[in-house]
Amino acid sequence: MSKLSTLTALQVMQDAPVIPVIVLHDVAHAVPLARALVAGGVRMLEVTLRTPQALACMEAIAKEVPEAVVGAGTVRSKADAQAAAIAGARFAVSPGYTSAVGQACRDVGLALLPGVATGSEIMAAQEDGFTELKFFPAMQAGGPAMLKAWGGPFFDVKFCPTGGVTLQNAPDFLSLSNVVCVGGSWIVPADAIEKCEWSRITQLAKDTQGLGL
Ligand code: 3PG
Repeated sequence: MSKLSTLTALQVMQDAPVIPVIVLHDVAHAVPLARALVAGGVRMLEVTLRTPQALACMEAIAKEVPEAVVGAGTVRSKADAQAAAIAGARFAVSPGYTSAVGQACRDVGLALLPGVATGSEIMAAQEDGFTELKFFPAMQAGGPAMLKAWGGPFFDVKFCPTGGVTLQNAPDFLSLSNVVCVGGSWIVPADAIEKCEWSRITQLAKDTQGLGL
């Protein structure tokens, strides 16, 4: 896949079993963190818009780590989508879904994984043409049992559960036919980033490679 090709949400989900949910407070951490994840086989990187430095971090990764594909997490508005695209994000992840966010991502060319936690939210996202969705917060909102139940009426939807997912419970999600990947922050622990423990993060990324096989 060429770095500049237009991505689909399915391609984002299919690249690896885990999408890291990244929180960065220091731009200096962005490039070494991205390289550490790539070294561990994880290329789709969700940098959350939860810190003032997030956009600058995305920009640094997009420019300096061509092996990675940077995405924006916590996209909650049209302005977030626009800023993320300008910063070099190639995909977006939202904690919930609104048509405004869906349209904004289309307008700026970002593949979107919209967040859902109820049947009505799934139907709203489907009405707007989104069939690959993030289930958030996955453990708190019903876990694997909820996804199994949704597999009946929403047989044509694929999910990326995120929120409370760990190395230990990831297989319970990934064994479901409607789950393509999971999202999680466990492979990018705050203390490892703070202490620049990049080889620890590479190992955590490597540990996810057998998941879902
Ligand atoms: C998210 O933003 O998707 C979640 O906060 C990540 O959840 P986790 O920290 O429980 O992995």
